[in-house]
Amino acid sequence: MPLAERKLQINESKASGFDFDLLADSYDSWYAGRRGAMYDRLEKKAISRYLPPSTKGKKLLEVGCGTGHWSRFFSGYDFEVTGVDVSERMIDAAKSKDISNASFQVADGHSLPFADETFDVTAAITALEFVRDAEAVVREMIRCTRKTGQVLLGVLNGLSKVNRQRQRQDGPESPYAAARLFSPVELKEFLEPFGRVEITVGGFVPAQSWLIPFAPWVDRIAGMFRSQKGAFIAAALKL
Ligand SMILES: C[S@@+](CC[C@H](N)C(=O)[O-])C[C@H]1O[C@@H](n2cnc3c(N)ncnc32)[C@H](O)[C@@H]1O
Repeated sequence: MPLAERKLQINESKASGFDFDLLADSYDSWYAGRRGAMYDRLEKKAISRYLPPSTKGKKLLEVGCGTGHWSRFFSGYDFEVTGVDVSERMIDAAKSKDISNASFQVADGHSLPFADETFDVTAAITALEFVRDAEAVVREMIRCTRKTGQVLLGVLNGLSKVNRQRQRQDGPESPYAAARLFSPVELKEFLEPFGRVEITVGGFVPAQSWLIPFAPWVDRIAGMFRSQKGAFIAAALKL
């Protein structure tokens, strides 16, 4: 199907509560800042716990891949990565990075253009919060995952003070206004009907700028005490 036709179909179904085309040019600047880079490091640490021991040549689908930031991370683990996103401009940005072992296409997570059990791992990082119907997207991800594989999710924690502040303060024009935030318990209960779920809460970055370099220690200590309030939840769903 031609891209323009596909985009029209996607827009009509309101695949997402926010049009991420608007952020495609500026999106990566968040990861470039000191605070964003620290969140990124801790989020990757949390997700890494759930990557399978052998990844070389395995196929990974990333739903809501945005500018390909995480696709590059997965490709660094030797996955063969397919990234999809409903935003055409996000996909253009991802393609422009020329990430090895990665290909990108516009697609809606509610109806993925792949055959059943195509991928070893399907992942969605800070994307489930923004889709129209999170359950339908997870069902589609499961359909496309081999029965020996797993679904990996990273979501913004609804119990985190910083995420709640963003939802309140960033205004109706921000993506946060349209986001559905899960708490760790909500995410676990949401996923449990589909398989065995493991969850890690991370992303404990102090509010004070001068404390940012200490975040890895804060994150580790908060993890030891099983705090539920970090900004990020990593979840693995084994089918
Ligand atoms: C907050 S961004 C995250 C991007 C990337 N995963 C990252 O963490 O850098 C959310 C992404 O989900 C995409 N998205 C929202 N609804 C979608 C849907 N129904 N299907 C595919 N992608 C979707 C948006 O276009 C956006 O690029």
